[in-house]
Amino acid sequence: MTGLFVVFEGADGTGKSTQVAAVANALREIGHDVVVTREPGGSDVAETLRALVLDPATHIDDMTETLIFAAARADHVAKTILPALNAGKVVVSDRFVGSSIAYQSAGRGLRQDAVIEINDYATGGLHPDLTVVLDLDASVAGARRDDRGEMIDRMESAPDGFQDAVRASFLTQVEAAPDRHLLIPAAQAPKTITAQILTHLETNYGVKL
Ligand code: TYD
Repeated sequence: MTGLFVVFEGADGTGKSTQVAAVANALREIGHDVVVTREPGGSDVAETLRALVLDPATHIDDMTETLIFAAARADHVAKTILPALNAGKVVVSDRFVGSSIAYQSAGRGLRQDAVIEINDYATGGLHPDLTVVLDLDASVAGARRDDRGEMIDRMESAPDGFQDAVRASFLTQVEAAPDRHLLIPAAQAPKTITAQILTHLETNYGVKL
């Protein structure tokens, strides 16, 4: 028995975490067995690596950063994602490999084929069944991040233009594999977005609603 692996991606401030919670709650209310998880993190070693890689006080070069995200992902896949999928559950993850392609390759400038190869190795070639990409103008997303008033992590303090490159990469990833992605304009009302995602899961993945 294999479950369903759904990933949410998007630049910082696109409302991703809100949608992860809303979609997971809706699926649970219907009776689905749902595991909600996140990257970097989602398992003991990966959560420790998250604290390290996002700490604004730590200097980390781009290659090391890429490998830490991939190492965290390897632990997350082995301890959290695969066991849940093998038990037939729905796994909803806030970020996955697409974030490394967007942030470490498009954002930091590492070669995309290298980032993909490192991550293929880390995940054993595991791909999401569906990746939902929340897309929002970078200036609107930036204003939302400022409004939240949270501590700025290492990635969020990257130079101007970084978030634009991240956004463009997610759009390119959708275009390259449209059958495995759902692109959502994130300026819409949150409830409208949740409904679109649930309808897509019902229509294309046979998820009972
Ligand atoms: P996230 O938890 O989504 O940020 P927040 O809770 O502040 O919305 O992700 C943390 C940051 O890590 C985010 O800026 C994206 C970045 N990131 C990468 O650069 N590469 C990766 O592979 C992953 C998973 C995240």
